[in-house]
Amino acid sequence: MAGGRERFIAQKSAGEPITMLTCYDYPTAVMQDEAGLDIIFVGDSVGTNVLGYGSETEVTMEDMLHHLRAVRRGVKDAYLLVDMPHRSFRTPEIALKNARALIAAGAEGVKLEGGSEQRDVVRALAEDGIDVCGHIGFTPQTLSQPGGKGRVQGKSLESARTLIESADVLETAGIMLLVLELVTEGVAEIITRRLQVPTIGIGAGPACDGQVLVTTDLVGISPFTRKIARRYAEVREIETSAFRQYNGDVKAGRFPTGANAFPTDPEDLVQLRELYGLPQRV
Ligand code: KIV
Repeated sequence: MAGGRERFIAQKSAGEPITMLTCYDYPTAVMQDEAGLDIIFVGDSVGTNVLGYGSETEVTMEDMLHHLRAVRRGVKDAYLLVDMPHRSFRTPEIALKNARALIAAGAEGVKLEGGSEQRDVVRALAEDGIDVCGHIGFTPQTLSQPGGKGRVQGKSLESARTLIESADVLETAGIMLLVLELVTEGVAEIITRRLQVPTIGIGAGPACDGQVLVTTDLVGISPFTRKIARRYAEVREIETSAFRQYNGDVKAGRFPTGANAFPTDPEDLVQLRELYGLPQRV
C-alpha cells in the first residue's frame, strides 16, 4: 500500500482509530490481515516473545529480516511496518542502509526508538522517501537495560516536557506516526493534540489516535496479563491442553488410528510380508 502517511493522517482527521498489532510469523499475518488490522507490525519484541532472548537488545537485522519476510508473505491489505533493531540506526548512514534493506524485504515503513536525539536519523530516512514511525516513552532497547529508568514515562513535569518536546522534534524531522509506550494519559493526550501525525498508544490511554498491543499478550500466550493489555483468548491453555492430549494419545496408542493412515493394497501386502519374512495377518 502506497501513501501510508496520507492514509493515517486522514484517519486521524476523521477520528477513526488506527489499529496495529505485532506479528512475527506467516499464519498470524494471514489472520490479522483477514481481521482487518490497519497496521501489521514486525516488532523487535520478536526477540523476547518468540526467539527466547533475554532482551530486545539481542535482536539483530538478520532476525528482523527473517521474520519480516515470513509476515510479508501473509499480508495482503494491511500496512506492513517493521522495527529497526538495536544499533541498526546509530548513525544516519547506518540507518539508511538498514532501512533500505528492510524496505527491500517488503516493509512499507520502519519504526525506530528514541526522542529528539534521533532527529538526524529520522530526517535522513524521510528525505530518502522512507516512512518512519517514531517511538517514545518506554523504549525497551535502551530503558530495559540495567540502569534504565522506571517504566512509566511522563510522571514528572520534566519528563513530560521532554516527551512533548521530543514528539515535536520528531514530527518536524518527518515521522509519519508516533508510538507512545507507557506514557501517562494526560501527556499522551497533549502530544496527540499537538501533532498532525497520528499517535499510536500502548499503555498510553484512550486519547491516542490508534492502539497497538503485543499479540502474544492479546491472545493469551504470555504467561501473565499485563495491566496495559487485554487478553482476548487463552491460547496458552488451549495449546498446552492440545499438546498434553496428543502426548497422552500417542503413548496410549489412541493416535493415529486407521482413519489417519493410508492402506496398503491387500494383495501387495501379502506378497511383501512373504518377501520380508513377516507372518501374514489373519
Ligand atoms: O516491538 C514491539 O512490540 C513494540 C511495541 C511495544 C510497539 O515496539
